[in-house]
Amino acid sequence: MIELILGQVLSFGADAMAEGPGAARHEARGAVALEAGRILAVGPAGDLRARYPAAPVTDMGDKLLSAGFIDTHVHYPQTAIIASWGKRLIDWLGTYTFPEEMRFADPAHAERVAKTYFDLALAHGTTSMCSYCTIHPASVEAFFLEAEARGVRALAGRTCMDRATAPEGLRDTAQAAYDESKALLERWHGRNRLSYVITPRFSPTSTPDQLLALGSLWAEHPDCLMQTHLSEQVDEIAWVKSLYPQARDYLDTYETFGLLGANAVYGHAIHLAPREMARLVEVGAGLAHCPTSNTFIGSGLFDTAGMAAAGLRVGLATDTGGGSSFSMLRTMAAAYEVAQLRGVALHPAQLWYLATTGAARLLRLEEKVGNLAPGMEADLIALDLASTPAIAQRAARAENVWEALFPTIMMGDDRAIAGVWVGGKRHR
Ligand code: GUN
Ligand code: ZN
Repeated sequence: MIELILGQVLSFGADAMAEGPGAARHEARGAVALEAGRILAVGPAGDLRARYPAAPVTDMGDKLLSAGFIDTHVHYPQTAIIASWGKRLIDWLGTYTFPEEMRFADPAHAERVAKTYFDLALAHGTTSMCSYCTIHPASVEAFFLEAEARGVRALAGRTCMDRATAPEGLRDTAQAAYDESKALLERWHGRNRLSYVITPRFSPTSTPDQLLALGSLWAEHPDCLMQTHLSEQVDEIAWVKSLYPQARDYLDTYETFGLLGANAVYGHAIHLAPREMARLVEVGAGLAHCPTSNTFIGSGLFDTAGMAAAGLRVGLATDTGGGSSFSMLRTMAAAYEVAQLRGVALHPAQLWYLATTGAARLLRLEEKVGNLAPGMEADLIALDLASTPAIAQRAARAENVWEALFPTIMMGDDRAIAGVWVGGKRHR
């Protein structure tokens, strides 16, 4: 059955980081035609109504229809410790994160948190995400089962740690990391809308043997993504140097063990040395920018414009619970503010791109999600661009779509999400 959704329609025809607002397409009175979980057509409402006269219509009025948001780096197991006070990265991990992740030894806890996480993500208009789990296979099972039950396109992996820097009870071995990651990969990768991601947490919590084992697993499954953390805080970089004295730099600790490649997604990547930057560009690796986390934990100011100009694929990410919000709107606002502190004003089109089409490119999903175009999977959101009195009075002055959208980017949250469709089905 063909179905029509009417509203303002925002989509991308090109890379907005490279081309700015000219990369976006805006249809003031537009429509999206859906059929069997996919987008059949996008265009002016009048044209699509004439083409599909028998199709039922959901008229969202002047709500803005967009591809659903894609969160490129999140730790769903940290849902319950979001907004924990007063620590920087290494102390924050030890004080809040590792104790909470230990609770995922109980599969019932993992199931509860996975449910809460997906409720929150969807309520905030996030229809795809790439998550870290914990060391426990049951944490991966819980995540994928919940995603599958809701029909969400989701990516995740078992977070591997075998070094004494990780606490007892949250440590595996190089062999266990390989075996359990492989078993999960074989069970989940490519099943329905799910993908497995090979996930060493970061160099400080893995031995060289474990990094090597996961590098081998990746070499056996090169179509999988590999995600990890890179150069988030200055203290962390010093720690890496002390643990890997022979390494040229932080990236080298991954490169040496087969964990550098075009399907790698590095979270943070704030304090890169010129060699690291050059290697990332050379191999075509991607970066997840986590601006609310980088300000919340005090990590630093990611160079969004510089990284994109160098040709690196970049996507936005909440990094919940290091990040302080589940909202990709709040994440766009933080990305804008961080860029301003570096002297760059990212255009609303660029911010939106980094949370949708650009995020999909980062995760190698650009043929499937992240844009409204024929053939794409029907993951859509409808945004109320006047969701609070403060936003409404500012948007009322807008003279074009970007002025109308920017107050929602800067001040919006889940109240702006007026509709969510996952695989063509209305979720809320
Ligand atoms: N580096 C290693 N693990 C983590 C984590 O869970 N959160 C953040 N923000 N950085 C990390
Ligand atoms: Zn992270």
